[in-house]
Amino acid sequence: MSESEHAGSVDVDLAAVKQQQRQMWGTADYAGVGSRILLVSELLCDAVDLQGGERVLDVACGNGNAALAAARRFARVTGVDYQARLLDHARARAATERYEIDFREGDAEALAFDDASFDVVLSTCGAMFAPDQTRAAAELVRVCRPGGRIGMVNWTPDGWVARLGKLVGQYAPPPSGVPSPMRWGDPDVLAELFGGSVELSAPERIFHFRFASAEDHADYFCAAYPPIVAALGRIDEQRGAELRRDIIGLAEEMNVSDADGLVLPLAYLEVVARKH
Ligand SMILES: C[S@@+](CC[C@H](N)C(=O)[O-])C[C@H]1O[C@@H](n2cnc3c(N)ncnc32)[C@H](O)[C@@H]1O
Repeated sequence: MSESEHAGSVDVDLAAVKQQQRQMWGTADYAGVGSRILLVSELLCDAVDLQGGERVLDVACGNGNAALAAARRFARVTGVDYQARLLDHARARAATERYEIDFREGDAEALAFDDASFDVVLSTCGAMFAPDQTRAAAELVRVCRPGGRIGMVNWTPDGWVARLGKLVGQYAPPPSGVPSPMRWGDPDVLAELFGGSVELSAPERIFHFRFASAEDHADYFCAAYPPIVAALGRIDEQRGAELRRDIIGLAEEMNVSDADGLVLPLAYLEVVARKH
């Protein structure tokens, strides 16, 4: 593991890092990318055995994938994210499907809800990006009622998302001292983060991300995915072309299609943590 993957003593200004990340998620087109991974949120609702009428919180909801999936099952849903632009997308999607979802601006590390306010707390590749991981985990547990469930989708440390992140980091290094989000995809670290407050199940699942070709996928990510767009903004054109070439190389290496398209297996932990 690299230095930034350890929880370690963090002497970096996490508040400043969070502010930069918040701004970053609002650029390019995360809403477009997010809509394409909706399936993991739908499956997570089954994994937590969601019941109609339950009070559900979607933490770091982005453009609302898990919130919408819960609303489709007649839950009473609140969604929180710190990126106002993504919340606007979430509200538009909810309006189209005629769901009443309470989307609010807020921080996963300081949720503005009383203890035990929700039956189910969801976060799909969301809370894992909060730089203060101990606080984020504590907040998920705090707002969940005893006997309630915390459901998460967390990318694993060796999967495509993590490898893409490492690749991008070789061109535009992340701030040092910030723990890697992919720690949330390691069952041992997850158990540490939640402490003894939950009974944990975290099987590994695969989501198949499908594109027409490795080149198309690289062009899409270089234009739409905020962390890559931010990295491209920090390097010159030649290095940008090299990064695109390496993104294509990684995709070709990981492609599991036996036909003409690109099929990337994205490994994640489907976490169900039942609060004691
Ligand atoms: C990869 S996106 C996932 C969004 C959504 N959950 C989904 O399934 O598509 C990460 C999201 O986490 C949000 N986020 C990251 N850190 C956050 C924090 N500390 N508080 C609130 N939102 C946060 C970002 O704004 C972004 O919407």
